[in-house]
Amino acid sequence: MRLALVGVGKMGRSILEGILRVGVLAKEEIGVYDTPPRTAEIAQEYGVIALRLEDLRQAERVLIGVQPKDIAALAPQITHPNTGYLSIMAGISTAVLSRGLGTRRVVRAMPNLAATIGKSSTALTGPREAEEAGDLEFARALFATVGDVYDLPERLFDAFTGMSASAPAYIAVVAEALADGGVKQGIPRAQALRLAADVLIATGELLRKKHPGVLKDEVSSPGGTTIYGLAALEARGLRAALVEAVEAATLRGHQLGEE
Ligand SMILES: NC(=O)c1ccc[n+]([C@@H]2O[C@H](COP(=O)([O-])OP(=O)(O)OC[C@H]3O[C@@H](n4cnc5c(N)ncnc54)[C@H](OP(=O)(O)O)[C@@H]3O)[C@@H](O)[C@H]2O)c1
Repeated sequence: MRLALVGVGKMGRSILEGILRVGVLAKEEIGVYDTPPRTAEIAQEYGVIALRLEDLRQAERVLIGVQPKDIAALAPQITHPNTGYLSIMAGISTAVLSRGLGTRRVVRAMPNLAATIGKSSTALTGPREAEEAGDLEFARALFATVGDVYDLPERLFDAFTGMSASAPAYIAVVAEALADGGVKQGIPRAQALRLAADVLIATGELLRKKHPGVLKDEVSSPGGTTIYGLAALEARGLRAALVEAVEAATLRGHQLGEE
């Protein structure tokens, strides 16, 4: 078995779907282990192998997709020699993973919810042993199936988590608030939600080509409507709120690691 997924929730499923969609591994090379009876359901749904805890010793590599709070109890049960481990858990460092799993063959990965549509930005890091054993290369190929992959120094992982991995939630709040603004001015709710989503997608595409400041200036004609809206945003501190959100989430990442 080339890969066992342990903890196949929202993120584990997205990665499994990416792997199968792109075909980097065949169904019979993949096993899944979750809390029963979900293991069998997931295995049946995707046509992969349902695993028992003891089957994990046959896996070349294990992708850990449980919540950070669950790893302390789980780690001793999934520790096997000659296995490489890939973790997507927020806040858990490679040092902690290495200690818990008794190996230096650990890769830390941080995808985001856009993995569900193949548009994640995923950061990767791992020690020399993971590079030498091919675990990092394996992880690059794996996460490339759900979007773009970046090698990132581990000291920036909590910041990456607080910004990129958490950002879909921040932007969802912005979208909902924009729609509320539209509804307040009389636009029907369904239309307002659709407009908010469309403008975020279009702006995201434009931002790949233009600096945010340039884009903002292009929309803001002198004395026009947009600059009045922007002035109201500045008065309410949208920028500061987002900067603080990233900082709070980054600190929470540190905390989760310590817990
Ligand atoms: N969601 C995101 O946007 C996102 C982004 C980046 C990273 N992450 C990280 O990805 C990980 C998973 O997140 P998620 O949103 O996919 O969580 P999730 O939906 O809660 O999935 C976790 C899965 O693990 C199962 N599980 C719990 N204990 C287990 C055990 N001992 N053995 C096997 N399976 C077990 C859970 O089953 P039960 O429900 O029965 O407990 C659940 O199916 C987290 O560590 C998170 O930090 C998530």
